[in-house]
Amino acid sequence: MHNPIYLDNNATTRCDDEVYKALLPYLKNEYGNPSSIYSLGTDIKEKIKNSRKKIAELINANEDEIVFTSCASESNVSAIMSAVKTNKNKRHIIASPLEHASIIETLKYLEKNGYRVTYLKVDDRGRIDLNELEQSISKDTLLITIMMANNELGNIYPIKEIGDIAKKNNILFHCDCVQALGKIKIDVNLQKIDTLSLSGHKIYAPKGIGVLYIRKSVPYIPLIFGHQENERRGGTENVPYIVGLGKAVELIKNNYDINKKIENLRDYMELEIKNKIEDIHIYGDIDNRLPNTSSIAFKGVNAENLMLVLESFNIFVSTGSACNSKNKAPSHVLIACHADLKNYSPIRISLGKYNTKEEIDIFVKRLESSVNMIRKRTNIQ
Ligand SMILES: Cc1ncc(COP(=O)(O)O)c(C=O)c1O
Repeated sequence: MHNPIYLDNNATTRCDDEVYKALLPYLKNEYGNPSSIYSLGTDIKEKIKNSRKKIAELINANEDEIVFTSCASESNVSAIMSAVKTNKNKRHIIASPLEHASIIETLKYLEKNGYRVTYLKVDDRGRIDLNELEQSISKDTLLITIMMANNELGNIYPIKEIGDIAKKNNILFHCDCVQALGKIKIDVNLQKIDTLSLSGHKIYAPKGIGVLYIRKSVPYIPLIFGHQENERRGGTENVPYIVGLGKAVELIKNNYDINKKIENLRDYMELEIKNKIEDIHIYGDIDNRLPNTSSIAFKGVNAENLMLVLESFNIFVSTGSACNSKNKAPSHVLIACHADLKNYSPIRISLGKYNTKEEIDIFVKRLESSVNMIRKRTNIQ
């Protein structure tokens, strides 16, 4: 049997060797607390500053607008709850229905507590309508929250246009940029983003480190009080992972070539699949997707069965977002797109920088035989 073929990079990525090397000393030898005022601490504080600078540069922000958190979920919840707390006289939020669970669940909580949420309609490819966004705005609207790129479909959203609309109407704009980081350009000024979230483990850094960007002019009330992070996020900093994240960000700075290679591989894979397997459907905004993502269904083939058969061949794909895969309920993203899940339930293939053409060839071969086998068993063919 071949080595594991990992095709689920939107769920998480393998830590890069350089990231691992960079963070290792801070797990043992360089153990000072960055809040200490002796050199063991101040040296570490410098390392944190260094990472902060790299992240700020990448998204065209100022260093003091970057807050380290434990994960992007924390960043999302912090941004939304702060928007609510700092706009006490307003009660309306506009969101895409395709947001990550950390946002959707926060909005559900707010709805139970007197807030009104407008979830924009999406078409069958998961696209939103900017006219509907504009028409949904009222004097009561305090926040628009729309992700830059979707984790399940790979769809890229018109963030600059959304930022313009938010700005024109004097409404806060939060953008979940977790899947966009390293794949498409993020520029908080050009795109007029007020707050945004990032996560380390989607860009070859470890799990358990996130970033919250907060525009300087935006009032902020923390979720976790304390003196760290300029009083915006209490808790002793996760120094090794902050250093690791800084390294990971350094590595993605000029990765146009890597993204192009990944996109070519994804397009090659889809073409091979189309050539070899009949009756398929590719979900999402095909011409406006992340370069690495493919949400693809095979008529009559249950995605979970297919995923399990592929797993038996040491090939790993998902049936939706990782956070959802324990939950047997169909993905809220696919439901919002009115997907025909009875006939076309998709697997998500998300490529990363370690994937090779050889792996894709093995995958397509196994996929073809698995789909044929499941179809035969279920008497579809
Ligand atoms: C779009 C999106 N937002 C937020 C998150 C949450 O990131 P974290 O695991 O760092 O909390 C994820 C992770 O799956 C994601 O895909």
